[in-house]
Amino acid sequence: SPLRVLVFGGALRAESANARLASLVARLIADAGATVDHAAMRDFAMPMYDGDMEVAEGLPPGALALRDRLERCDAFVISSPEYNGSVPGVLKNAIDWVSRVRPQPFKTKHAMLVSASPSLVGGNRGLWALRVPLEHLGTRVYPDMFSLANCYSAFAEDGTLIDSGLRERLAETVAGFLSLVEADVRYVCLERR
Ligand code: FNR
Repeated sequence: SPLRVLVFGGALRAESANARLASLVARLIADAGATVDHAAMRDFAMPMYDGDMEVAEGLPPGALALRDRLERCDAFVISSPEYNGSVPGVLKNAIDWVSRVRPQPFKTKHAMLVSASPSLVGGNRGLWALRVPLEHLGTRVYPDMFSLANCYSAFAEDGTLIDSGLRERLAETVAGFLSLVEADVRYVCLERR
């Protein structure tokens, strides 16, 4: 059966450059034959983590929605902006809530991290910060990351990247990620036989 990959952007706003980059990555993954579950951070809207709320009510619906969609995938891709050199609070909050579920759904999943920013560095520092909670939770984070600089002038009308070098680099990153996940999922299937 084809790989199942959840793809979502880490920002809430509708015109998010990271949502555009997530759409492009989702298209590349679908073109490679995998099954894509394309989500938006808005699908996982939730209050700030509050231990009292957790005890009284359990997890909020947005966190349960993210948990469900993570459980159904082999791998996930996050396209996240960088806020003040780090992970946006909205995304970190979602990771914190979902990390409270057992079985903890980030564990053993593969992840690829991409970012878009109007800056020259493309939000890459935020991705290094995002590795910390994910690796803490046991996610296998793909070593290669893709960061899109000058993001407001980088996209063509059809949603692809204007620069051919960047287009190739993103395609290579996605292909490398998928072949690693594919090999791992196949290995796990053989082992369980
Ligand atoms: C930013 N932005 C930003 N950009 C960056 O490259 N490095 C940074 O440290 C920050 N810090 C930062 C903090 C806060 C609070 C905001 C709101 C923004 C700019 C950010 O990259 C820009 O707003 C992007 O457009 C966000 O991505 P979306 O929303 O277009 O996906």
